Amino acid sequence: MAGNQISMHGQWSSRWVFILAATGSAVGLGNIWKFPYITGENGGGAFVLVYLACIAVIGIPIMMAEIMLGRRGRQSPINTMHTLAIEAGHSTNWQYLGWLGVIAGFLILSYYSVIAGWGLAYVVHASSGVFTGASVEVINNVFFDLVSDPKQLIIWHSLFMVLTMFVVARGVQGGLEKAVKFLMPALFIILLLLVAYAVQNGAFEQAVEFLFVPDFHALFYKLDEHGQEYLTWNGVLIAMGHAFFTLSLGMGAIMVYGSYLPENTSITQTAFMIAIADTVVALLAGLAIFPIVFATNLEPGSGPGLIFKTLPFAFGHMEGGVVFGTLFFILLSFAAWTSSISLIEPALAWLVESLGIGRISASIMIGILCWAAGLLSVFSFNIWSDVKPLSDFNIFKDSTIFDLLDYLAVNIMLPLGGLLIAIFAVWIMSREASMEELGMGDRFAYKLWRLLMRYITPIAVIVVFLNVVGIISFK
Ligand code: PFF
Repeated sequence: MAGNQISMHGQWSSRWVFILAATGSAVGLGNIWKFPYITGENGGGAFVLVYLACIAVIGIPIMMAEIMLGRRGRQSPINTMHTLAIEAGHSTNWQYLGWLGVIAGFLILSYYSVIAGWGLAYVVHASSGVFTGASVEVINNVFFDLVSDPKQLIIWHSLFMVLTMFVVARGVQGGLEKAVKFLMPALFIILLLLVAYAVQNGAFEQAVEFLFVPDFHALFYKLDEHGQEYLTWNGVLIAMGHAFFTLSLGMGAIMVYGSYLPENTSITQTAFMIAIADTVVALLAGLAIFPIVFATNLEPGSGPGLIFKTLPFAFGHMEGGVVFGTLFFILLSFAAWTSSISLIEPALAWLVESLGIGRISASIMIGILCWAAGLLSVFSFNIWSDVKPLSDFNIFKDSTIFDLLDYLAVNIMLPLGGLLIAIFAVWIMSREASMEELGMGDRFAYKLWRLLMRYITPIAVIVVFLNVVGIISFK
């Protein structure tokens, strides 16, 4: 065994708690807010297919690797990588993989908190009854009024950041365990109710066709500013990046949660359960949202506001919509909350371990930094909405600072982190060590995992990267 049996930060009280916490990290804005809008922007079915393939072939094996590395190293990702590199007799530069994750988590949390703030604002809107019987225009205006007002966005962003820091400062186990046990099932039930509404009142067949009948042309071809089609792999990269994002992979969040995992827990089973729960939630969100998109003639590619423009319409026209709507946005905020705390846990664990800073001071420090960085995203939706720093490139022609931050962290840093994790787990770490830690002997499942990680995952990530770089085109 490398290192300790237990992390200095403590341990989950059981395997179930780990599953709940990791599912809490995975299920978040990525599933309910992001999945539908990027699916809409990238043409539907083919995008969903690539995303599902990435979850199965890349996501699950990498999740197993992250849990395995975390449990073996039992420290923050930076120190875990340091320890395991020494154990394997390799350079301690592998610790920079931990740093990459810390920076990605920081960037992601900066804007994640802004969007989660929209969710909080919508708890108030939904409970006030503004959506009751409201037309599409009224609902669009509510959204526009929110995002165009930096003051409101800053207030909600600040509130969410304070809530996140509060839980993080107290340690992952305490409040989080209880919250997730109850909130995840509640979110699931409310999504089912929304799908039922969409089946009855929305353009359900059209939505199913959009989501599940692949149209590869719509994924690979985009229009430039002159209305000319051009070929791009960017949609494939976005699907792959999203597979990492939605499963919280590639940046050490699952690794650090794995470091609190008791021995003798099946890593494979656990990874499958988390991935399945996460995927089901995303698909349900799609099935709840797109029937309304098509029934109300909304543009599927209308961007980050999609769920805030569609679901309120459903709430406004259903029996008990005020209660359901309020509950939905409360649950969405909770789902974001349980994800955001895992975004900073890698950095926090490192500050506590290596600099000896207390959990409370460490969370305040990170919180203030992330909050300040979040202002870039706040302004991207209003006073800087015309600032498009990379507009000379076709694929970034409409990208605001928020879009670019998201692109850099999610589509570049997470897959890169995942690629390096895969390389470390099967090329650097010894076969004996990974076999011992995964605990499934030398059976077919282990061999398959190793094969996927040795060849398929790295090749897939590199091919997609190269294609995006190769086909990147100037306007
Ligand atoms: N998985 C989260 C979501 O889908 O909303 C986002 C996330 C959390 C990404 C934690 C990465 C992470 F480490």
